[in-house]
Amino acid sequence: MTAEPHVPPGVDPAVPSPARIYDYLLGGSYNFESDRTAANRAMQRVPEVRDIIFATRGFHGRAVRWIAEQGITQYLDIGSGLPTVGNTHEIVGRVIPDARVMYVDNDPMVAASVAEILIDPDRTRFTTGDIRDPGDLLTRPEITDFIDLGQPLGLIISAVLHFVADDDDPAALMDRYIAALAPGSYVALSHATADKAPPESVKTGQETYANASEQFFMRSAAEVQRFFAGLELVPPYEGAGPRLAYLGEWGAEDPADADTDGSRWGYCGVGRRA
Ligand SMILES: C[S@@+](CC[C@H](N)C(=O)[O-])C[C@H]1O[C@@H](n2cnc3c(N)ncnc32)[C@H](O)[C@@H]1O
Repeated sequence: MTAEPHVPPGVDPAVPSPARIYDYLLGGSYNFESDRTAANRAMQRVPEVRDIIFATRGFHGRAVRWIAEQGITQYLDIGSGLPTVGNTHEIVGRVIPDARVMYVDNDPMVAASVAEILIDPDRTRFTTGDIRDPGDLLTRPEITDFIDLGQPLGLIISAVLHFVADDDDPAALMDRYIAALAPGSYVALSHATADKAPPESVKTGQETYANASEQFFMRSAAEVQRFFAGLELVPPYEGAGPRLAYLGEWGAEDPADADTDGSRWGYCGVGRRA
């Protein structure tokens, strides 16, 4: 049995957090008993939970690599999560070694744990911030001195907007971020949906986060599509038309093979600012 991680300031280990639950399901060690209990309960009731999590992380990796292959040299990754395999700067760095990545997350566990991936401050930085506050994130010098909003950017919003309530108007938040992007920028976004999941499983999904630091709001295809307003969606794989995809489908070599139950728990897409 491995030791519990150190409890950083601002972290309540008794309250599960989306970042720590996700870390546990990916096989990481930045999590506490409360996170594991919530995740294990979900896994007992919804057998495809791990498939959902790996489909989510898989989209992140394939989309980030694809954006880097378009020549984008700077990235803003909001809701970046705990360090894991395939962090954004590692994927981008394999394509563009001197690309810059600014990570943002609102979880104090993330803030306390990112040091291990912030090896080169010329290329990779982190700041605590909240996606619900674009006025802050789009003007804070710590971010705008590192990322030039006047130049094309890769904006990564992967598996985070489903922790934003309707009351916080996620569509209006996306409008703010997209309006701030220079032409030629790309947005990679994924979001959980209940469209294809059985009602009992959907209930479990919501219950998993009921006592967590953030709650969980699944949305329909139309609602997720709305987040891309002002962008041109790119085809999710060769031969497809421009559209939203299920998580596993995007960038898949064999889309039929990627069409699993877990994949259908989320929509995703990459959009370009013309
Ligand atoms: C499921 S993880 C996704 C991590 C990574 N983006 C990925 O796709 O693999 C969700 C992340 O969003 C963060 N998050 C949740 N609500 C947030 C908010 N309001 N502002 C910033 N980050 C948030 C969580 O702390 C967590 O690290």
